[in-house]
Amino acid sequence: MEASNLLAVIRYRRSVREYDPRPIEQWKVRAVLEAARLAPSSTNSQPWRILVVTDPALKDGMARATPAGINRHPWMRDAPAILVLCAVKSGVQKFAQLIGKNYHLVDMGIVGEHIVLAAAELGLGTCWVGWFHKSRVRKLLGIPLAWELVCLLPVGYPKDCSLPAGELLARHASDASTQREGEPGIGAVPAKARLRLDEVVFENKMERMKDGTVH
Ligand SMILES: Cc1cc2nc3c(=O)[nH]c(=O)nc-3n(C[C@H](O)[C@H](O)[C@H](O)COP(=O)(O)O)c2cc1C
Repeated sequence: MEASNLLAVIRYRRSVREYDPRPIEQWKVRAVLEAARLAPSSTNSQPWRILVVTDPALKDGMARATPAGINRHPWMRDAPAILVLCAVKSGVQKFAQLIGKNYHLVDMGIVGEHIVLAAAELGLGTCWVGWFHKSRVRKLLGIPLAWELVCLLPVGYPKDCSLPAGELLARHASDASTQREGEPGIGAVPAKARLRLDEVVFENKMERMKDGTVH
């Protein structure tokens, strides 16, 4: 079976936490943002607003804005750009929240992954960053209160370019075999373990067992 390039991108994408500070070509930034613009969203509400932060002092401030004791992200300041993903909830999405549906966050996940995969396709590394001090970043960047700050996405060329992403993806474009734990991907980052398919995919109706487990 022939794999599409998209499947190779998915297989070799990694969370990159070491960046080469060289700038990203403008056309690539635009292509990544265009991939974001085209993402699907609930009732086509397109709740995303994206701030592209390249100013070194602001990036430094964001790298420092991590809650004490949790993952620290000093490496973020080396990324030539940090995309700040914010959501502006539509009327329908506000209503949906009343019945327990957070569609605006589903939309934000989709737009973020459009960005991540488009960037990987262009040889760029990214890393979702959810652990950050929201109020500090909001103040630093002057983000209005009506915008919900969702995630940060540093973007840039990975520091380890022993095997450039383009070459890696081209080499595996027609390889449909599955990812192996530890296998190096973009930025030479080893693949993290994943649950097996039978641990996450079930067929038809779930059966509740006497001990309370579900099969
Ligand atoms: C919503 C979300 C939030 C995340 N937050 C962080 C974070 O704050 N810091 C970090 O270093 N990685 C963060 N990650 C990256 C995950 O740790 C990473 O995706 C996971 O360990 C799997 O590794 P991989 O992306 O290399 O396949 C986050 C990922 C997601 C999807």
